[in-house]
Amino acid sequence: MPKPSKGLTISMVVLVLGVAYVIYIIQGGGEGDGPQLMEATGPAVIELGQRVYADSCAACHGANLEGQPGFDWREKNPDGTFPAPPHDETGHTWHHADTLLFNYTANGGQVFLGDVGKSGMPAFADVLTFQEIEAVLVYIKSTWPEPIRERQRLVTEAAREQ
Ligand code: HEC
Repeated sequence: MPKPSKGLTISMVVLVLGVAYVIYIIQGGGEGDGPQLMEATGPAVIELGQRVYADSCAACHGANLEGQPGFDWREKNPDGTFPAPPHDETGHTWHHADTLLFNYTANGGQVFLGDVGKSGMPAFADVLTFQEIEAVLVYIKSTWPEPIRERQRLVTEAAREQ
């Protein structure tokens, strides 16, 4: 095989760096400290999200996003964890920006609580794909009434500008 010319090698390096940069931007690199949710929409995304929710979240957060059945999510369990909060509009999920919701789901709660408390929220980064985590959040958001969605959108935008 002939040795590739210097020009060709340089353009290959530029290409590889370019592709890496595009992936970095798509995943939200450079904005805030985590991936931004892409605004994936449509019935297929919501359907996938609903399936992921039923399989991975409903056991704790309730089949209808109502929170851990039989518990008040504001009151600590005897082991120091909190019951899983509701993801419907009565909870506080919509107070958080997309980035935080994504990172909380991907990395689990302990990273966020630190020494302040014991988290009962597992990390899903090794269990679910980026698209599955995004879809489950899109699904959760799709259940909120429009005024709540609008407020959460503003929180997300404010976080982006930081
Ligand atoms: C084993 C129980 C359990 C499972 C399964 C679980 N969670 Fe949680 N989750 C919790 C608990 C408990 C909290 C409360 C905060 C903490 O302990 O860190 C929480 C908090 C959260 C929060 C941050 C608080 C809020 O309301 O915004 C998000 C977001 C979240 N969970 C999303 C999910 C998603 C999405 C799934 C499914 C992929 C899921 N959780 C599965 C127990 C669970």
